[in-house]
Amino acid sequence: MSERQYPGLFMTVEGGEGAGKTTNIAYIKEWLTKHNIEFVHTREPGGTPLAERIRELLLAKSDEAIAEKAELLLVFAARAQHLDQVIVPALQAGKVVLCDRFTDATYAYQGAGRGLDKRHIATLESLVQESLRPDLTILLDLPVAAGMARVSQRGELDRFEQEALSFFERVRTAYLERAAVFEHQYAIVDASQGLDDVQADIGVILQNRLSAYAGE
Ligand SMILES: Nc1ncnc2c1ncn2[C@@H]1O[C@H](COP(=O)(O)OP(=O)(O)O)[C@@H](O)[C@H]1O
Ligand SMILES: [Mg+2]
Repeated sequence: MSERQYPGLFMTVEGGEGAGKTTNIAYIKEWLTKHNIEFVHTREPGGTPLAERIRELLLAKSDEAIAEKAELLLVFAARAQHLDQVIVPALQAGKVVLCDRFTDATYAYQGAGRGLDKRHIATLESLVQESLRPDLTILLDLPVAAGMARVSQRGELDRFEQEALSFFERVRTAYLERAAVFEHQYAIVDASQGLDDVQADIGVILQNRLSAYAGE
């Protein structure tokens, strides 16, 4: 991993609604703590007070439809703030950054889901991140219907969760396509398994991918 730009390691967790991101991030935090690895846990959109305010704008249902390009720019506005205030300083300090969703989600949701041209996303990605990309992305892959069944117990649906099944099918396909293209970045986990098996798989990935970082 000597090509890394910062001494820290940038890890993101991706997947559709109900894939188990929140649940398994708790497991990853325990794993990092057990291995004495310093980390910062954060999420997108959000991660700073300003970026969390943008998150609220993005997730709230409103009478005024949000233009697709406005949504895309809000996502990247939040990301620019998050990188400046939280992610880059932590990576510079040599920490692991553990982030619930990042730009791969923008390609999946605003790109494949909404149908925005991915060249525009790539332009904003370069503007906002320069050359920074996640070192490791754990993709929790789950059939859409199974994810929906899991989140249906969660209460009122947000602006994204209200989308049609076809939207989430495009999101899932886009994640899997990106995982095939960016093989060195992605590790795919079959999130339809029981939680013990999902976490055993994640443990193997962390052991393999973080041992160089942890100097083990
Ligand atoms: N492997 C699993 N098998 C069964 N249920 C799961 C599994 N992983 C997570 N869940 C449950 O599914 C729901 C959604 O999980 P969550 O971690 O909130 O997903 P996400 O953050 O990806 O939307 C929660 O109720 C969680 O307990
Ligand atoms: Mg979650």
